[in-house]
Amino acid sequence: MTEPLDVRDTRAAYDAVAVSYEELLRNLMAEKVYDRAMLAAFAERVASTGNLRVLDVGSGPGRITAHLASLGLDASGMDLSPEMVAVAQKSHPGITFAEGNLEALDPGEGTLGGIVAWYSLIHTPPERLQGVFVSLNNALAAGGFLLLAFQTGTAKRRIERAYGHEISMDAYLMAPEHITGQLEAAGFAIEAQLVRAADHDEKTPQAYLMAQKR
Ligand SMILES: C[S@@+](CC[C@H](N)C(=O)[O-])C[C@H]1O[C@@H](n2cnc3c(N)ncnc32)[C@H](O)[C@@H]1O
Repeated sequence: MTEPLDVRDTRAAYDAVAVSYEELLRNLMAEKVYDRAMLAAFAERVASTGNLRVLDVGSGPGRITAHLASLGLDASGMDLSPEMVAVAQKSHPGITFAEGNLEALDPGEGTLGGIVAWYSLIHTPPERLQGVFVSLNNALAAGGFLLLAFQTGTAKRRIERAYGHEISMDAYLMAPEHITGQLEAAGFAIEAQLVRAADHDEKTPQAYLMAQKR
């Protein structure tokens, strides 16, 4: 099947910014208390299932994957951008990162204890999100957990410059109440929702959703 143009744009954009992105966000976790809180809750809930295998989809430079590993999970990452995968692998040689599209996860999986999509669904056009949630659900073992983080809102944004580079891609703000409905329709039970105010480096409130495969 021909790859949608938006997927090619997103890959090209993250290929261009990969090295700068890693440098700029390397230490961000230290100042993001709610990021750490939600990731800690996710790690604890996944551990309670006894299945520690988790996949960070859209892992970028691997900072979240490495944090999950530091919390005791058997974490690996995958990303659309080969440059991001290379940066992640170099930064975290003890963790496995692979190139892939979260919209085309291996349908034979169904064995993961958890999946994290940390600001990585923000480039998927809204009309394709429901299908993504169904495929994320299929990749989880029964009782497995999904954790999402994203910027809240309803607008589509065209991004022409980011992390010091000229690029060209779209990003979508998402309404948590809409996403929770889609997750439920895809076979998840919503376990926790948090919306926090924008930090100094952000333009909109940020949402975290944790859901469990029914
Ligand atoms: C905003 S970055 C977030 C990276 C990382 N999760 C973090 O928080 O540092 C978005 C990442 O998602 C990846 N991405 C976007 N669409 C994707 C897709 N369809 N499949 C896999 N990765 C995707 C991009 O290549 C990029 O690395």
